[in-house]
Amino acid sequence: MKYLLIYSSRFGYTKKIAQKLEAQWTAAGITVNLVNLADAPILHSGEYDKIIIGASIRYGHYAAALAPWIIRNQLILNSTPSAFYSVSILANKPHRNTPQTHTYTRKFFAKSPWQPQTIGIFAGELHYARYNLIDRYMMRLVMKLNKGETNLNAHIEYTDWKKVREFGEQILKLTN
Ligand SMILES: Cc1cc2nc3c(=O)[nH]c(=O)nc-3n(C[C@H](O)[C@H](O)[C@H](O)COP(=O)(O)O)c2cc1C
Repeated sequence: MKYLLIYSSRFGYTKKIAQKLEAQWTAAGITVNLVNLADAPILHSGEYDKIIIGASIRYGHYAAALAPWIIRNQLILNSTPSAFYSVSILANKPHRNTPQTHTYTRKFFAKSPWQPQTIGIFAGELHYARYNLIDRYMMRLVMKLNKGETNLNAHIEYTDWKKVREFGEQILKLTN
């Protein structure tokens, strides 16, 4: 069994989640090819048993390169058991943490030619010290509007790792 796991990550957090999944699947005897979206290959039929893509949200959107890559590879994506996970801060809100209630993901897949069989919605990381001045200001504003953490010394991982593990288990069970 061979999985392709592609991540799109600005500060490395989506990659960190990808590495957790990689470890889980490797322990289950799967060969995992972990690749940055920037280096993602053009897919060919039969190369992988399952394909998983993880991407983070920045100012309401996934990386600009994600949609074109999906469009180019839609035939293989749609004919292979596949999954997607989203990483964002607002997914830490209980009313925004499912594929149906998470607006970013719902809007993205409403327009996408690829429909993954499973979608995971994970809360990411808040780490003001790593952001530049504008990003720090904007994120603080977003957090304030959402009654979240505004202390600039904050470094918080909001991720529910049990949810990530359950997503990993769901992928192991995915069939055509
Ligand atoms: C500049 C910036 C903008 C962000 N915009 C959003 C946003 O619009 N909505 C949201 O829920 N999270 C937003 N986030 C939170 C990120 O999605 C979160 O920090 C995630 O863990 C980043 O993962 P990455 O390191 O893999 O890119 C933003 C973070 C930064 C730094």
